[in-house]
Amino acid sequence: MQTLTRKRILVGITGGIAAYKSAELVRELVRAGADVRVVMTPAAKEFITPLTLQALSGNPVHHTLLDEAAEMGMGHIELARWADLLLVAPASADFIARLAAGMGNDLLTTLFLATQAKLALAPAMNEKMWLNASTQANVQQLQQRFPDLAWFGPDAGQQACGDVGPGRMLEPVGLAQLAASCFEQNVLTGRKVVITAGPTREAIDPVRYLSNHSSGKMGFALAAAAAEAGAAVTLIAGPVNLPTPDRVDRLDVVSAREMHEAAMAQLGAVDLFIGTAAVADFRPDTLADQKLKKQDGQSGMTLTLVQNPDIIASVAKAEQRPTSVVAFAAETQNLLEYARRKLDRKAVDWVVANDVSRQDIGFGQDHNEVVLVGKDSERPFGPASKHQVARWLIEQLSASFHA
Ligand SMILES: Cc1cc2nc3c(=O)[nH]c(=O)nc-3n(C[C@H](O)[C@H](O)[C@H](O)COP(=O)(O)O)c2cc1C
Repeated sequence: MQTLTRKRILVGITGGIAAYKSAELVRELVRAGADVRVVMTPAAKEFITPLTLQALSGNPVHHTLLDEAAEMGMGHIELARWADLLLVAPASADFIARLAAGMGNDLLTTLFLATQAKLALAPAMNEKMWLNASTQANVQQLQQRFPDLAWFGPDAGQQACGDVGPGRMLEPVGLAQLAASCFEQNVLTGRKVVITAGPTREAIDPVRYLSNHSSGKMGFALAAAAAEAGAAVTLIAGPVNLPTPDRVDRLDVVSAREMHEAAMAQLGAVDLFIGTAAVADFRPDTLADQKLKKQDGQSGMTLTLVQNPDIIASVAKAEQRPTSVVAFAAETQNLLEYARRKLDRKAVDWVVANDVSRQDIGFGQDHNEVVLVGKDSERPFGPASKHQVARWLIEQLSASFHA
């Protein structure tokens, strides 16, 4: 079984007989190296005590949404952000119905709505409950709404109530293996990834600069996805207003020249370099020592610009070239044609093309739609959240290492 070392797994437990197996599941996950936290519905506590799960996970068990102590420490949003995987086992018919209705009326349903972690459900219920048209309609609705949601089981066989049929929860060892398989695309373990993100600022004088609208969100989402995939990630960030993703080393820079210097200094044993930064092509040729003052009668001003170093081309043509170099092409027209030209001109392996002229995706937005352009391929993805796009891109790019 692939190790779950450092993987953060939130185990959700709902009110069903199979809750007794959740204790064994938590044990299996911890044994595989995962950091496990447990969230229980009120009904689940009727079947198994939080104390047992606290002892097995080594962490306090969370069960109330409105917990003042928890809100000061790890509230529901923090818990949602913490997880790499939210696995609900057992998932009751009632819980599935609440998810299908989009409810957030307890801690577990709220976490399901709030998290960007991978999601998995292990249904467990009497076979007639599972086969009931209402349950099946709820399952179908969830499958359509959350195509990435993994369904672990249910299994068929003898049930606690004596009936025989589908509805049994999978055994803990099998569930732990399936949890590990959720990370199997995480083939970046042991790899070094460098990502540039955000805009650059090109100073005109001590108070003014030239810049662009890049928010850095795509690069930060990629850094988070690469770290989640096990890579050692260095994120070279221009001036942005974003928190550093977990397990990511961040270097802050301001100008294109600083970003170039920081990027080149990283080269050596880099496996994957992804340039998402919107680097200024030009900078003012001189930097005024003092703030430029408007002169009486002055009707205009001319700035002379000189070219900045091309970071992605420098990296791709460097002696210590990373194994794979990926450029982003933010275009407003002729997306694929410009992406192909960029692929050749900059000697990169991949170009991620996105249309920034659209209001719903691109600069500053939380969503994106991209085409991953390779030498002989064009793979579209989205529209989807930048986190989903980032995970998809990391999956695609890491697969190329193994090809
Ligand atoms: C003894 C007993 C066993 C139950 N077993 C199950 C079960 O295996 N699966 C299920 O979906 N519901 C089962 N239920 C019903 C759920 O506990 C009930 O629907 C509850 O509202 C679920 O709440 P939750 O989803 O918030 O945990 C059982 C109820 C009782 C009293």
